[in-house]
Amino acid sequence: SEPPNPAGAGIFRSYEDDRNAPSEEVLYTTSNGVPMPHPYETQRVGTNGPLLLQDFHLIDLLSHFDRERIPERVVHAKGSGAHGTFKCTKPLDDLCIADIFSKEGKECPISVRFSTVGGESGSPDCARDPRGFSVKFRTEEGNWDMVANNTPVFFLRDPAKFPHFIHTQKRDPATHLGGGDDSTQFWDYLSQNPESIHQVMILMGDRGIPDGYRFMHGYAGHTLKLVNKDGDWVYAQMHMKSNQGTKFITQEDSATKSPDHSQKDLFQAIERGEFPSWTVSFQTMTAKEAEELWEKQKINAFDLTHVWPHKQFPLREVGRFELNENAKNYFAEIEQIAFNPAHMVPGIEPSADPVLQSRLFSYPDAHRHRVGVNYQQLPVNSTRTKYRVANFQRDGNMAFYNQGSRPNYLSSIEPIQFRKRTVDLDKVHGEFTANAVTFLSEIRPEDFNAPRNLWEKVFDEDAKKRFISNVSGHMSTCRKEEIIKRQIAIFREVSPDLASRLEKATGVQGYDGIANLRFNGTHNGMASSDKYKVAN
Ligand code: HEM
Repeated sequence: SEPPNPAGAGIFRSYEDDRNAPSEEVLYTTSNGVPMPHPYETQRVGTNGPLLLQDFHLIDLLSHFDRERIPERVVHAKGSGAHGTFKCTKPLDDLCIADIFSKEGKECPISVRFSTVGGESGSPDCARDPRGFSVKFRTEEGNWDMVANNTPVFFLRDPAKFPHFIHTQKRDPATHLGGGDDSTQFWDYLSQNPESIHQVMILMGDRGIPDGYRFMHGYAGHTLKLVNKDGDWVYAQMHMKSNQGTKFITQEDSATKSPDHSQKDLFQAIERGEFPSWTVSFQTMTAKEAEELWEKQKINAFDLTHVWPHKQFPLREVGRFELNENAKNYFAEIEQIAFNPAHMVPGIEPSADPVLQSRLFSYPDAHRHRVGVNYQQLPVNSTRTKYRVANFQRDGNMAFYNQGSRPNYLSSIEPIQFRKRTVDLDKVHGEFTANAVTFLSEIRPEDFNAPRNLWEKVFDEDAKKRFISNVSGHMSTCRKEEIIKRQIAIFREVSPDLASRLEKATGVQGYDGIANLRFNGTHNGMASSDKYKVAN
């Protein structure tokens, strides 16, 4: 029987209708919509002859199959996602004009993608690796993407280092072996770039393998700016705290888990109706406080290897979101989703953090390569604004929303509409620029304060034992003792106790500290003499 087609009622098909169509309401066709009585009807000459070029059905099938793969994400390739709803619980309207924070109870649909970082798209979920935590807030004023991680800090503060660091976790160019068999490159990089130490402490500790995506927090890591109706702004750090609490897996247990452990856990929980949720809060800081933080505590608000002390900058709750719907189609709704830190809405602005500034360029550049120039037109990436959108971006591959017959220039004959400017741009972009660190990665004693706090105050004795076992286990495949000696010196700046336990576990005597080390690409601000100060 031929079911009616509500999706095709107009001239064009509707995605939403196709997405929800049950199998009894669809009919088998070729890609141009011609019904086929059976999918295995290859046309050939006689019973044993060659095939016919006219068999569009077979060529349609095979040629599409040949093109099924798109490039996977260069990082964060293995992921899971779902859809849900954000609800504002405590308006932030004194600090920010963003529409979604304007009123208590205001709701906004969201899509979330979680991921590991280093592995390929088929890699195991329980890898020791940071986790990505991206949220697309589909606000009435455009899409706002929060492209966050499950750790509040990052490995670097100079964006030029990112490809280098990531390459240490990719396959060796010659042997094609991954890091599982050889950790030399990984520790080589870390031992030359000690600003990574805070993130390394987190990665090698219990938080390094979360027990599924429901049980982890998310952090912007970067400083953003919130702008209010008068154009006044504050710096802000966004936190997403799991209402399920946090749970972690030990190194030993990780080997026993399914490669798709996190995917299974998230998907099945949502299918069971156990909708995971997170509470969204901000820490905020004025420009003056940022200058003081640098002068008194040597913490630069634009340096994402550091966190903002919570006592000085307490969290302020603004809302909560839950995930309540699985994707109907993983590829269409999760693989092709494109998160971009530059997607900000009125009221939210980037800070001058150099890593954030670089990311503003890198993500849409990756999307044009990975998905194509019109990736924003795909249903999963498109906006649900309260107004119809218009611009002068036309044509290109797959332009299926090409803005109709509207003139493709700033026409005075058929003018489009513009919103009145609401805030004073000079005020918003007036910036705290004092004390910029010229060499972004210079190592300072303050870099070790937070890691020391983790070792001395946060980790209990069992967590310390697991940490030492995780690091020494990982280092067991590092081929160069010199690298281990340097990394132990970095750990000694965190805590002599940590370093000597690691020396026992690895059997390697590390260097005393970093005063007499020269780093490859990183200035040593703690050097004992000029000989070691400037990078190799
Ligand atoms: C994904 C670049 C730092 C979080 C990506 C992608 C690129 C990239 C090219 C793939 C995008 C795609 O194909 O859709 C960079 C660069 C960085 C950087 C150049 C620094 C200079 C960071 C930091 C965070 C982060 C600091 C978190 C605070 C993520 C997440 C994804 C991602 C969560 C996956 C997004 C998704 O689920 O689709 N990054 N990244 N990245 N990055 Fe970064």
